[in-house]
Amino acid sequence: MRPENLKTRIFLDSGDPDETRQGLEALKFLDGQTTNPSLVAKNPAAAGKKFSAAEVLNFYESVVKEVSFYLPQGSVSVEVYADQDTPAEEMLEQGKQFASWISNAHIKFPTTQEGLKAAQQAVRDDLRVNMTLVFSQEQAAAVYAATKGAKKGDVFISPFVGRLDDIGQNGMDLIKNIVEMYKNGDGHVEVLTASVRSIGHITQAIALGSDILTAPLKVLKDWAAAGMPVKDQQQDVQPLALKPILYQQLDLNQPWQNFNIQHELTDKGLAKFAQDWNNLIEQA
Ligand code: E4P
Repeated sequence: MRPENLKTRIFLDSGDPDETRQGLEALKFLDGQTTNPSLVAKNPAAAGKKFSAAEVLNFYESVVKEVSFYLPQGSVSVEVYADQDTPAEEMLEQGKQFASWISNAHIKFPTTQEGLKAAQQAVRDDLRVNMTLVFSQEQAAAVYAATKGAKKGDVFISPFVGRLDDIGQNGMDLIKNIVEMYKNGDGHVEVLTASVRSIGHITQAIALGSDILTAPLKVLKDWAAAGMPVKDQQQDVQPLALKPILYQQLDLNQPWQNFNIQHELTDKGLAKFAQDWNNLIEQA
């Protein structure tokens, strides 16, 4: 059962509907699910298989439909295929197709120039979006500016805390900074803490007021086994070795193009998602 004082929505991070079922069994609730190309590639039904380009989309569609069946009231994030050369128009076209699969989709676009262009048009076309591969406060400011006018609930932003920790920076600081910066805004973007690796990430995301968090099944099961704590436990405190990420004063009312959205982890993450997806496809 959902803890009474829990405001943050809890999503499962997985490309496997069987894990949705297990997550529901472990927690007795789930508010949604995020998928990405690497997670879908890890689905046991895809592992070691090769698909044609059409088949792989059919497979993704069946996965997403099954997840949506388990979580009819929740949100299901479906990620577009994009590499460094994919234009915004192509991402938008995919987004529209994916949104037609289920009624509760948030379309994931990368937080790159083309991804932001696609998202800007997507929200004008009434699509819900989840901006992914976010590693900096400037990217968060750009997401806010590019999607202005969208209604609350239609835009998520996914900062990847675990991948920042991996390079020695305190990923949770980014959540704190974005939540703080968005207090000066109109509230139309919801913060979805992603790349969660531990119960400590969960409790800190809750304490910082993250609207949503997404975590792998194992971490959610650990959290459930620990009694679903909503406050930091002593043993969960981040190691002091992580370098703090400092708050930046940014004006959310600038055009999104004014922000420096470049981040090496965004580029690296985009390339890895594309590679994992392409590995599923039989090359002619
Ligand atoms: C979710 O939306 C993200 O794609 C996911 O949390 C990334 O997690 P990872 O850094 O463990 O791959």
